[in-house]
Amino acid sequence: MTDINKQEFDDATKLKLEIFRECFKEWLPVFIHSPVVEKVFIYDFFAGSGMDTQNNSGSPLILFEEAKGENEMYCSKSQPERVVFAFNEKIKTKSEELKQNVDNHVIECLKNCGRDKCVYEYHIGNYDFKEAIVRPNVESILKNSKYGKFILLDQYGFKEVDSEIFKKLVTSPKTDFIFFISSSFIKRFSEHPYIKKYIETEKINFDKAEPKECHRIVADYFKTLITKASEYYLHHFSIKKGANYYGLIFGSAHTYGIEKFLKVCWEKDKLSGEASFDMYHDFQKGSLFYTETNTNKIEAFKLDLEKKILSGEIKTNLEGLKFALGSGVQTKAFLDKIIELKDKRKIILISGNFNKKIANIHRLSKDDIYQIILNRK
Ligand SMILES: C[S@@+](CC[C@H](N)C(=O)[O-])C[C@H]1O[C@@H](n2cnc3c(N)ncnc32)[C@H](O)[C@@H]1O
Repeated sequence: MTDINKQEFDDATKLKLEIFRECFKEWLPVFIHSPVVEKVFIYDFFAGSGMDTQNNSGSPLILFEEAKGENEMYCSKSQPERVVFAFNEKIKTKSEELKQNVDNHVIECLKNCGRDKCVYEYHIGNYDFKEAIVRPNVESILKNSKYGKFILLDQYGFKEVDSEIFKKLVTSPKTDFIFFISSSFIKRFSEHPYIKKYIETEKINFDKAEPKECHRIVADYFKTLITKASEYYLHHFSIKKGANYYGLIFGSAHTYGIEKFLKVCWEKDKLSGEASFDMYHDFQKGSLFYTETNTNKIEAFKLDLEKKILSGEIKTNLEGLKFALGSGVQTKAFLDKIIELKDKRKIILISGNFNKKIANIHRLSKDDIYQIILNRK
């Protein structure tokens, strides 16, 4: 395996890091401003040495940079040690290099803000991930529902975030996570006993799919590991590098978390919000029929939504908005469809307050939840 920090980050890696950055940038304010979150923990379990050979920031420095906020708006107001970073790297020399890089970063940062000590606490670990995640302090932080956790798992390959680790993460309260996975590799070697040790590939069917769909199929497999009873959201983003497909998978038990992640993904991919390439054969930018509002993915979602409304499966705007989030679509698509159905009065009526400006679940008060009633006349 070539060491990612011993060369310049390639374009696929830069895109991955940009998504980490944007995702964390959206996530942090929600948790630091939450009155029910006592402390915030940010874990980067595969942190690398902090930089590439051109001094481009790797994930740990990116997280630290973003935690400051624009014009130090977060760190200047933060209570000391309310925000804690834990960076881990298994290779000793890389972990030492990482410590040096983070220390230097903080020294430079302190020169600007004039404090003696950074308000953020940070720790550098040098463990194998599977040992680190079961350390008693990590376990107790993961279990603590008063602590908000952001977990970054930038593994090489696929074997570190296995089914067991995934289940542990989705059952930890107030824990959002994002991991990288080499999906082409899982597809190519799905029958190999080595892969089957970590991923139940018998539950994955790549047969009818195009190669470019493999990361979505891998993400669907992870969805099957979540118990049906719990409300949980996963979304994925596929990244092509050469002939191979890699990707990110983000998980959150909270509608706010997934809403934020979808925002990042749809900014990167205006056609499907899920790939660094054309996933659903859409017209491309510059072509005559290019559209960002009625892309193939959005249209397929709206069709599905209409069926669910007309069959009575979706009865309220809250259910419809959650269905959008679970389908990897921004909630505006739900609102557009409901306005369309409402305009054709013969299809649906609304019982309750209809506010066409509110598409975000977190802005929805009790009074804004309405019933969708089928017009049988
Ligand atoms: C993809 S790189 C991470 C790069 C880093 N996120 C960055 O942006 O620079 C994966 C890192 O995880 C380390 N690593 C590999 N296996 C590990 C394990 N089992 N536990 C902890 N670290 C591991 C590797 O040495 C490597 O530095």
